[in-house]
Amino acid sequence: MDTFAGRLAVVTGGGSGMGRELVVQLAAAGASVATCDVNPDNLAGTAERASAGAPDGVRVTTHLCDVSDEAAVMGFRDEVVAQHATDHVNLVFSNAGIGGGGSFVTGDRTEWDRTFGVCWGGVYNCARAFVPLLVASDAGHLVNTSSVNGFWASLGPGVPHTAYSAAKFAVKGFSEALLEDFRINAPHVQVSVVMPGHIGTDIVINSQRIHARNEPGRDQAAEMRTAMAARGVATEGMSDDDVLNMMTMFGEMFRDAAPMTAAEAASDILAGVLAGRWRLLIGADAVKLDEAVRADPERAYGADGLSLGTIVDIGG
Ligand SMILES: NC(=O)c1ccc[n+]([C@@H]2O[C@H](COP(=O)([O-])OP(=O)(O)OC[C@H]3O[C@@H](n4cnc5c(N)ncnc54)[C@H](O)[C@@H]3O)[C@@H](O)[C@H]2O)c1
Repeated sequence: MDTFAGRLAVVTGGGSGMGRELVVQLAAAGASVATCDVNPDNLAGTAERASAGAPDGVRVTTHLCDVSDEAAVMGFRDEVVAQHATDHVNLVFSNAGIGGGGSFVTGDRTEWDRTFGVCWGGVYNCARAFVPLLVASDAGHLVNTSSVNGFWASLGPGVPHTAYSAAKFAVKGFSEALLEDFRINAPHVQVSVVMPGHIGTDIVINSQRIHARNEPGRDQAAEMRTAMAARGVATEGMSDDDVLNMMTMFGEMFRDAAPMTAAEAASDILAGVLAGRWRLLIGADAVKLDEAVRADPERAYGADGLSLGTIVDIGG
């Protein structure tokens, strides 16, 4: 595919971050886009920006859909087919994701399963729903978002990161396996796996809100105190509100200290897709981390193992 003009793209998680920027840039390049999210207000903001910058004839539709729910994803697909009056799609960006599910040993199981269900289940459900529509096109491309945590299951020494990493490894493995499957059974369809490093988005804040909304009974302040204690930070003198504000502050720091913006990341992803590349490392930090893990996998983990802050210099 050498142009997005006149194509139809599906983007999951289009309400924020890289998904929003993918929608805006695809529409500006002349593609019609159907995007879904669990946050209707953010979706409306994306549609407004994308439509404002799009040439005549481009349609941007928004759909409320939880990608971890297979029936909801099938409903999203049916809406896309009906609203775009189509029997195929050309591009599917399985981008929706949340953080969470740090410790398998001590963590909350519901959060673990939700994180895995969105980050892996969402990619799986969207492939089940939309691959037949890619196969029905004259040129199709499936773009699955993994992470540097799809080849390095860690945030560095001292911080368990099990659900997200397991899901992102699954996304990478599935995408790599599809390369040969498509080559044999649907040679006009391509697949890429996206592995971003640290990108400036609200993923930390959005993920906390999604977990809190789905489990209203959870005491997030108490969990934050435990997590801080494990890192040697005392919170005894702080009120619950102070602790919760600190969580939001960490989320803002994650966004604002990133070496790459969501718009830059989306532009690199789209350039990689047009170039027909399947392995998309996004950001210099992702490239360096990939080299470090492959150079010495035995040293990737442990007290002296790789750390985003020291090895990759992203401000840890
Ligand atoms: N930001 C980073 O540093 C980074 C690094 C590596 C990988 N990623 C991955 O990139 C992707 C995009 O993340 P982002 O940083 O732009 O985050 P973001 O929070 O800004 O955007 C993610 C969007 O997905 C939506 N979403 C969450 N759960 C959903 C569900 N069940 N169904 C539908 N939509 C849902 C959220 O509401 C949000 O709008 C994710 O898969 C994430 O894991 C991000």
